[in-house]
Amino acid sequence: MKRVLVAGATGYLGRYVVKELKKQGFYIKILVRNPDKLNQTGDFLEPPIGEDVDEVAIGDITKPNTLKHVCDNIDYVFSSVGITRKSNGMTFEDVDYQGNVNLLKEAENSHVAKFMYIHVCINDDWKKTGPLIEAKKRFVDVLTASNVDHIIIRPTGYFSDLTSF
Ligand SMILES: NC(=O)c1ccc[n+]([C@@H]2O[C@H](COP(=O)([O-])OP(=O)(O)OC[C@H]3O[C@@H](n4cnc5c(N)ncnc54)[C@H](OP(=O)(O)O)[C@@H]3O)[C@@H](O)[C@H]2O)c1
Repeated sequence: MKRVLVAGATGYLGRYVVKELKKQGFYIKILVRNPDKLNQTGDFLEPPIGEDVDEVAIGDITKPNTLKHVCDNIDYVFSSVGITRKSNGMTFEDVDYQGNVNLLKEAENSHVAKFMYIHVCINDDWKKTGPLIEAKKRFVDVLTASNVDHIIIRPTGYFSDLTSF
């Protein structure tokens, strides 16, 4: 059975990814800050995931000492970690860029087979993008240059973000 680490599992996209991976028969380890959220419905009615998870690691991707060995014995890492709504004093640079770099280093150390990252749908010709997209683009550059095989997904808006419209 292939083993996946899902970082961002308590978020909107992460919960649906956990559900789908479980359906497809993967062993699911998640990296979360607050395990109480697993059995709660999300802010946009995304489902609880407590029953779908095989292993829980508590950690914060901006704190590398909480990530040590989190990718050991993991085949695939999926990260949808980012600041979408609540920043809690953190910047895009802290979380979307440096946090994902910290997780990637762990993935490299543990020789995972693949790192999947959720980027954003942008046109590479755009001159002005803002700090969120800049931070995500910088992480994509690091991921692309790393030794880890990777998949970069560039989604458009989710129903969660479109709710406010
Ligand atoms: N929403 C959209 O329409 C959209 C469109 C295109 C791309 N994206 C990208 O897709 C990704 C996921 O979006 P989403 O809407 O699912 O976001 P979300 O609901 O805000 O989920 C973000 C996840 O990241 C986690 N996280 C944040 N800071 C963390 C930290 N320091 N350490 C560990 N985990 C941390 C959150 O954990 P907590 O539950 O503990 O806060 C949550 O699980 C983001 O990278 C976003 O840029 C989103």
